[in-house]
Amino acid sequence: MSSSTNTTAARGFTVNDFRKYKASATPISMITCYDHAFAKIIEKSPIDTVLVGDSLGNVIAGYSSTLPVTLDQIIYHTEIVRRGAPSKFLIADMPFMSYHVSIEDTMRNAGRVMKETGAQAVKLEGGRDFSKTIESLVKASIPVMGHLGLTPQSVHRFGGYGVQGREAHEHRRILEDAKILEESGVFTMVLEKIPESLAREVSESISVPTIGIGAGRGCDGQVLVLNDMLGMDESFNPKFVKKYANLFEISLKAIEEFHREIRERNFPEEKHAYS
Ligand code: KIV
Repeated sequence: MSSSTNTTAARGFTVNDFRKYKASATPISMITCYDHAFAKIIEKSPIDTVLVGDSLGNVIAGYSSTLPVTLDQIIYHTEIVRRGAPSKFLIADMPFMSYHVSIEDTMRNAGRVMKETGAQAVKLEGGRDFSKTIESLVKASIPVMGHLGLTPQSVHRFGGYGVQGREAHEHRRILEDAKILEESGVFTMVLEKIPESLAREVSESISVPTIGIGAGRGCDGQVLVLNDMLGMDESFNPKFVKKYANLFEISLKAIEEFHREIRERNFPEEKHAYS
């Protein structure tokens, strides 16, 4: 991490606020971010928390899954987001295979994330299989966010990105896993792409807040991928995404106009030129 990086803990929302917000039934807002320019915009917004998701593999790198994302990429993106959004509660995703090999390896990897980025917490995907891992991280004072339901790093086990938890045995497993994650010490957990009724049941059965994405209205907070909610990809239109802007169209129009003005010799004008 460069010496100019702001590693001071955020002054606003803290890990304690997750439970407080749940207790007061205040929905928690979370957004993903991957770069400095958008981090500076988010810093000006009232959004509660920011996640540097491994979705950066899809929306930044153009991979068809999150599997190729590396620890170094997460560290790079989290560090630049932290510099743009110094006051936000910042969570970094642990990429595929960075917390699967052994507890020692996980501790080293999560330690690097915390030491080199200024993040206040890490997120990892999975249920009961990771309870010991989560306990070890929490014992080392590394706050952990869980992630259940559609866990994209398991895309090949699921055979796609479909809704999870519709079958009775999946439903039961997700409910049990949520309880296990809570007991392991997570301070919050993402519920991704599960039926609304199941997300509500999970949220009502645990004391830590749930953050939903494609999980309906019963969660304790909501997260969307920044690029999705800004409408930056015209070809990505899943049911659960609300596009609050159409940056694809706005950007394309601006670039087309720039090109036209160059061709027509209307740019640059006198005011853009130095004497
Ligand atoms: O990687 C990511 O952006 C995520 C969110 C979708 C929760 O895990």
